[in-house]
Amino acid sequence: MSKAIQIAVVGSGYVGLVAAVCFAEIGHDVICVDNDERKVAALESGDTLIHEKHLPELLVRYRNNRIRFTTDLGEATRESEAIFIAVGTPQSESGDADLSYVEAVACEIARSLTSYKVIVEKSTVPVYTNEWIRRAIERNGVGRRLFDVVSNPEFLREGTAVEDFLHPDRIVVGADSEAAASLLAAIYAPLTTGAYYQRPDAIRGSCSTAQPPPLLTTSTKSAEIIKHASNAFLALKISFINAVSNLCEVTDANIEQVARGMGLDSRIGPRFLRPGIGYGGSCFPKDVAAFRSVADQLGIDFSLLTEVEKINTQQKKRFLSKVRSALWTLRGKRLGVLGLAFKGETDDIRESPAVDLVEMLLAEGCFITAYDPAAMKRTEEQIAASRHLHYAEDAYAAAVDADALLILTDWKEFVDLDFKRLYTLMRYPIVVDGRNLFDPAEMHDLGFTYISIGRPAVYPTRDVEVATTAGV
Ligand code: UDX
Repeated sequence: MSKAIQIAVVGSGYVGLVAAVCFAEIGHDVICVDNDERKVAALESGDTLIHEKHLPELLVRYRNNRIRFTTDLGEATRESEAIFIAVGTPQSESGDADLSYVEAVACEIARSLTSYKVIVEKSTVPVYTNEWIRRAIERNGVGRRLFDVVSNPEFLREGTAVEDFLHPDRIVVGADSEAAASLLAAIYAPLTTGAYYQRPDAIRGSCSTAQPPPLLTTSTKSAEIIKHASNAFLALKISFINAVSNLCEVTDANIEQVARGMGLDSRIGPRFLRPGIGYGGSCFPKDVAAFRSVADQLGIDFSLLTEVEKINTQQKKRFLSKVRSALWTLRGKRLGVLGLAFKGETDDIRESPAVDLVEMLLAEGCFITAYDPAAMKRTEEQIAASRHLHYAEDAYAAAVDADALLILTDWKEFVDLDFKRLYTLMRYPIVVDGRNLFDPAEMHDLGFTYISIGRPAVYPTRDVEVATTAGV
């Protein structure tokens, strides 16, 4: 059993809360700091605030023993060896990451530094942030020997965040000092030595004692770039496959076959080749914009990233055109919408292409009845229910009298929908699927017009003749 290290995590959002709970799970003592008193009170009472697998049980297990919550950053700093900064870095109007929260936290930490501490940036930040944090602390009168600043980017995905943290593909530690690098190595030792995976109650995943995750030590600047470059590359992969799916549509090829054929090349790999209505969420859109902006400021032409963003925006417009061409005109049409979250298994709607499409369709004068298993409350806070927008209790209620049913989020529960029942509820059996959840041949056999992404559309047999004739 390795030594328990006293850690402070500043910011209780997705990254901060998951990191805090997982540090406790691997044996450390954690103080979780947030300046929002209501959040701290909710967490103290056992409310996890976010929809994330494993989080509730881990919070129950460690609350009031290995984890405590506070608004007092000064006290948390004094009591901890390492202070992880995991506050938000939202996108500013110019596309840059807004680092004002990071700066405010750094200055407050500086005011409480009386013995050596390692300050760790875990938020996604542009290259050189590490240096700025160091300068901000020094400007507050703290000597260089009292602290080090380390970059330890987090790669977790929403919905699988706890598992991603405990079973990472890699742990990246960007450190310019030996002392700081060895403290971070000690913090992650339960994972990198494989000890954690031996525990009978360990959360299972891809890593094991025989195959523990590697820890990569780099310079601070490299670590900062690794995080931005990884997210930008994944976004590029998605935009690339979306562009190829558009090519498949005009040639009557099938993107599923093309993606499989590409993904079997081990240099490309099969993941992140799912076409759809574009990427969203709290990371990819913001990080691509921030990385592009960093490159601009450093005089590097990285217009490839502008194209990635352009394709992502076009993908939503293209989906809107598909709905229009399925229905001829949009004004006054009744649409059932399944999915509002930016991806399945989360309640997060930040930068959700599904919510963007709902707004675009409302602007076209459609009447929408939407259903999402977890994200309706959040969506309703952004777009209130109205004569034009209703929120339904389940997928079947959303389909009643619909001129078409749109699939906008890849929720697992949608895969098991009873389409025979949906057929009887809808006004016209038309499904426009932005996530390729269903098999076109099966949808054809069930009598649907089924339009998806990058695959030939199928029509009920009678309409096939009409469509073919019309296309000649
Ligand atoms: C992402 C990164 O994966 C993670 O490493 C980083 O720390 C935060 O950002 P997340 O935003 O939770 O995680 O979701 P992810 O599963 O990566 O999906 C991002 C978006 O891309 C979603 O909108 C998803 O629907 C879309 N996507 C993903 C596709 O359209 N096609 C794919 O093949 C994969």
